[in-house]
Order: sequence, then structure tokens, then C-alpha cells
Amino acid sequence: MLNNLRSVQFGLTDLCNFKCIMCPQTDFEGLYGSIEEKGMKVHEGNTGFMELELFNRILEDCRKNNFHLGIVSLIWLGESMLHPQFREFFFNSIIFGEETGLLSSVVFNTNGSLLDEKLSEDILGFYTEHNKKIGSTITFSIDAATDETLKQIKRIDNPGEVFKNIENFLREYAKVYKKFTMPMVVLLQMIVLEENHHEAELFKKRWSEILIELGIPYDIGYSAYGECDGDNPVRIVFKRASCKNQEKMNELHTETMIKIGLIEVSEKLFDLNEQTEVEKEIVRHPCVAPFETAIINWNGDVTPCCGDTSLELNIGNVSESSFPQLINEKKINDLRIAMLKGELEKYPKCFHCGNAVLPSISIERLENLCKKSGLEEEFKLYLERIK
Ligand SMILES: C[S@@+](CC[C@H](N)C(=O)[O-])C[C@H]1O[C@@H](n2cnc3c(N)ncnc32)[C@H](O)[C@@H]1O
Ligand code: SF4
Repeated sequence: MLNNLRSVQFGLTDLCNFKCIMCPQTDFEGLYGSIEEKGMKVHEGNTGFMELELFNRILEDCRKNNFHLGIVSLIWLGESMLHPQFREFFFNSIIFGEETGLLSSVVFNTNGSLLDEKLSEDILGFYTEHNKKIGSTITFSIDAATDETLKQIKRIDNPGEVFKNIENFLREYAKVYKKFTMPMVVLLQMIVLEENHHEAELFKKRWSEILIELGIPYDIGYSAYGECDGDNPVRIVFKRASCKNQEKMNELHTETMIKIGLIEVSEKLFDLNEQTEVEKEIVRHPCVAPFETAIINWNGDVTPCCGDTSLELNIGNVSESSFPQLINEKKINDLRIAMLKGELEKYPKCFHCGNAVLPSISIERLENLCKKSGLEEEFKLYLERIK
């Protein structure tokens, strides 16, 4: 039985108070795709909030089955701080991790608009008491250095106190972060877009000045990955946008990173060009998602892929089978087998996705996961196929 995943995302809600131009949430037409293309049509009239009881039940089912959730993320498609019980979701996951060891860290992204002083205090106060075993990462999706660009990107007249809220959080954070055994990593993020790339330098400067004033060690990166630990717990990060014209976005990201001195002109950052020409590819490799990740929509529907906004790959609902069971049932195993055989025609979402072009999982790890899923024979077929 497969009893550990690398990450599980809980979509506390698929609603949002913002309409960021590049986000699956938005109906903004253009480079970033229409709402149909982004798969959010299916959520229309079917939006909501995850019940805390459902969340607790899923955790309990994992406890009973000794099922390891890896990194637990408290977001998917919406703004989780809209959930009136957001605190409880965060607190309960950390306590569950401390008690059971069945998760490694708790992470969430937020647009920062609802993070008032009280919520900042509650989150940091709680973590000050509970930081021995479970790590945490908070990503602030800021995407602008000025009010004007913030309004343009978030597409609302009054983006509220986003800058003030995040600055206030950092002020409180500065007072406590040194006491943390497991770091609470904070990412101050800008997704590089046509509408904001001219502000990248200013973004860097604005947040650097604040962090220096507060005495918080930080680094600056062109991706969220890589070292970011207790010594350097904050990162100003410039993320690449996913969009219809991926090649264009990759170029814009690279050019911007060169301009602000984060990469050398000669350095090759990401070469996803092959990934955008999926249909030409002959050898398909298993994507990590059906083997290692799961996303639970607010209503209990489960999909293996965070890009599956339309729940095309839905493997069932946690009200029908427990979550650990769903991860081991036929529906998900059929997708794993299709991945191993490289026969993805029945799964258009995967067929057209670049993730199955480059191997995203080591052979040793895949072998191990296949053993646990009873797919030893199919794994052998994969080895034959890629010889
Ligand atoms: C869908 S949002 C939900 C969480 C929350 N509302 C927020 O803004 O952080 C999750 C993350 O996806 C990022 N995101 C949105 N559109 C994106 C795109 N086209 N490419 C890459 N990341 C994107 C957001 O900036 C955010 O960090
Ligand atoms: S705030 Fe987050 S979920 Fe809402 S539209 Fe922006 S990126 Fe999307």
C-alpha cells in the first residue's frame, strides 16, 4: 500500500476576493488564458468552503492508516484567509504533525489582504509555541511594488492594506523568528508579468530596505527553491508565470532576472521549450503527480494534479472512500499505469502537459512507489520502453 505522499494540498476554498490577471481565478482574456482555458468553469455555481470537520476527519484517517502527507498546503485555487476558520486549519495541521509525525511542514500562500494585525499575532503567537517539529512556509503573492501596479494586477479598485499588512507581519516576525527551532520561511513573491516586470528592481529594493531595517536576514532568488533556512529565513522571489505562451513568459522572466542582476547573461535558466512541443515528443515519462501528490478540493473531491483546476482527473471523493484508500484505488492506479506505459490518450490533461516529457522522478524512487502500488510489472514495461 502506498502510504506516503510528497505533498497534499487542501483547497480550503475556491473563492477569492481578488481577480489577478494571470490567475486561474480570473476571466481576464489574453496571454494568461480565458476562464474556460484555465478550467475554472467547472467551479461556477459549485464554489464553497471546506468544512473543518471534513479536514479533521481526513487527518484522522491518515493517523489510523499511518499515512504520511509530506508537505501540507492549505491552499489551492482561492484565498484561504477568506475561510472564517483559517486559523484552526493552520493550528490543527501543526498539532497533528507534532503528535503523529505524519507531515513535515505546513505551507500556505496568501494575497495578504485579509492578514490583519490580530491574525498575524495569532499565527506567529501559535508558531512561537509550536515550532519544534513542524516547519512552515508562508508565501505572500504580492506581484507589484507600487499601489498602481497592485491595482492593475489584482484588478480591484481597492486592494486594501496589502503592503501594510505584510510589513506589519514582518515587524512581528522579526521579534520572534530567532526562537523557532524549525524555521517559518517567508517568501515575498513577484510573478514576473508583462504588466509588472518594469518594477522588479523596485520590488527588490522596497522589501530589501524593510528587511534590513528589521534586521531579518534574507536572500533574493529567481525561484522559490533552493536553500532558505533558519539563518536566512526570508526570500524575495521572482517566479515565472505559467501561461498559454510559456516560451514568451520564460523569456520575459529570464530577461528580467538578467536586468536586475540575479542571473548572468550566459546562464541558461529553464529550458521548457521542449515541454511546450509536447505532441512531437515520443518518449513519455511518468509525471510525479499521480505517485506523490494529491489535491483535495473544498468539497472533498481529490485530484492528483494541482494544475487540474477542472477536476478532470478526479479520483473520487473522501466521503466515498477514506483519503488513504482513494490514493490506492483503481482509478488512480489506472492513471499510474497509463503513465508507465506512456499511453496518455485517455487523459487529455496529461497528454497535453509538459510534465510527462522530462523525467520528474528518479528511477529508484519510481521503482519503490510502483512496488508499494503493486505495479512492479508495469514498472518493468517502463524500463523496457525507455531503453
Ligand atoms: C492560486 S493562488 C491561491 C493563493 C492566494 N490567493 C495567493 O494569491 O497567494 C496560489 C499561487 O499561485 C500563484 N499564481 C497565480 N497565477 C499564476 C500563474 N499564471 N503562474 C504562476 N503562478 C500563479 C499565485 O501568485 C499564488 O502564489
Ligand atoms: S489572490 Fe491568489 S487566488 Fe486570488 S486571484 Fe490573485 S493569485 Fe488568484
